[in-house]
Amino acid sequence: MSDRTFHILTFGCQMNVNDSDWLARALVARGFTEAPLGKARVNIVNTCSVRDKPEQKVYSVLGRIRQATRKLPDAFAVVGGCVAQQIGSGFFTRFPQVRLVFGGDGSSMAPQAIERLCAEPGLRVSLLDFSEEYPERDAQLDSGPVPPSAFVNIMQGCDNFCAYCIVPYTRGRQKSRAADAVVRECAELVDRGAKEITLLGQNVNSYGQDAEATRQATAAGDGKAVSFAELLHRVAALPGLARLRFVTPHPKDIAPEVIDAFGTLDNLCPRLHLPLQSGSDRILKAMGRKYDMARYMDIVHRLKAARPDIQLSTDIIVGFPGETEQDFEDTLAAMRAVGFAASFSFCYSDRPGTRAEMLPAKLDAAEKAARLARLQEWQNDYTEQCLRSMVGLHTMVLLDGMSRKPGMTTPELQEGVHEGVHDGVAGTPGGESWQGRDPYGQAVNVVMPPRTQGGPEGWLGRIVPVTIVEAKKHSLRGVLRA
Ligand code: SAH
Ligand code: SF4
Ligand code: F3S
Repeated sequence: MSDRTFHILTFGCQMNVNDSDWLARALVARGFTEAPLGKARVNIVNTCSVRDKPEQKVYSVLGRIRQATRKLPDAFAVVGGCVAQQIGSGFFTRFPQVRLVFGGDGSSMAPQAIERLCAEPGLRVSLLDFSEEYPERDAQLDSGPVPPSAFVNIMQGCDNFCAYCIVPYTRGRQKSRAADAVVRECAELVDRGAKEITLLGQNVNSYGQDAEATRQATAAGDGKAVSFAELLHRVAALPGLARLRFVTPHPKDIAPEVIDAFGTLDNLCPRLHLPLQSGSDRILKAMGRKYDMARYMDIVHRLKAARPDIQLSTDIIVGFPGETEQDFEDTLAAMRAVGFAASFSFCYSDRPGTRAEMLPAKLDAAEKAARLARLQEWQNDYTEQCLRSMVGLHTMVLLDGMSRKPGMTTPELQEGVHEGVHDGVAGTPGGESWQGRDPYGQAVNVVMPPRTQGGPEGWLGRIVPVTIVEAKKHSLRGVLRA
């Protein structure tokens, strides 16, 4: 076993995926190499605690790591992300193999800590403090090509304290990243081959509205923080950036200028993930979401006026404490009224320390599951209908890799497991099967001529004209247009 091998397993949202990507590159820059889980000396789990299920997965994964590394005396585990922030050094007592815990703000220091742990066998380290400033990370790790689709953090944390949500506790107070740093990173990514950038944050449209942003503006002498709409304009103006997206906005404070941007910025993609959570005003109030259905529908109408072909997606929680059958029917009615191209829906899950945890009138698991199934059944039918309606359309597809089996990832902030494993590549007689995305973010599979015809770099990162010929359950199939 090499002394400096690592494996990262990532749960949770795109912000965690982005943190893990950075950590992997930082470790490689320090001379570490990746190895399979159980074969690596440093076994890193980047965790999510947004619901009970992903939190529990962490404990079972740590058990698995312990089993798999039984015969590797130097091997140890590292726990990062939101469960690390929540449980902290509690991991050291429950799992002797854990030697480092780090939270969101501590991730920038994790590579140095891992290096020290390799050199000092008895050491244990926790990096759990929240910093006051945005924890800027070393960006100059490597200079090679990057994937066509890149993600850029614009903020840390969240100040909204929705009644059910643990994120403000695990990610800390909102801290905007300096606009110049965001634009610089985006420009570098475009120079290195990125065609699409997704700006990331837990509540992106309150970018610039926090103490850190005010401090930066004061230090720069202009007194006024850069707003999210201004940031969008600055990034969109980068030459060579074909597509811009962002996730996640909160409906309560989406500014008119952000809505207008969908009508004026050519490279801002016509797709928006706008979490609704519930269609019942009573439940929205109890959740502390600070908008009602009238306000939400007003935003939807204004978005459609700015960009008539815009597609929306959303997050829904079913079975929030006190949700009645009527409240749930209101949610179904809201989904029909908006017509979301896709939705991510979850049973309400009690999170420690949140206001909702203290609420009476919890629903039982069977009731929540039954409501979730009804909602998902409706959504699946509707999504299929949306995909079918796209057959025959001419579109542009950004090719991001050879087709893999199975599954695709989504850009939304979602719980999930992300392993850097590439499954078998699908070969097709007379060509190669590629996957890509249309401007709405829909996955499209298309057969391309052999890669050598795509130029020295092949087809990766090319935006090609495609006619959609078939709708599958979760994806589309297209043919290359001459
Ligand atoms: N900041 C984003 C999303 C954060 S978490 C936003 O405000 O939309 C992603 C999704 O997880 C949320 O939109 C919500 O639908 C879901 N979620 C959060 N806490 C939850 C809980 N306690 N139980 C069930 N779902 C939850
Ligand atoms: Fe959680 Fe999102 Fe609400 Fe923040 S805005 S508390 S991250 S659901
Ligand atoms: Fe944390 Fe993202 Fe999960 S902020 S709780 S990893 S959804």
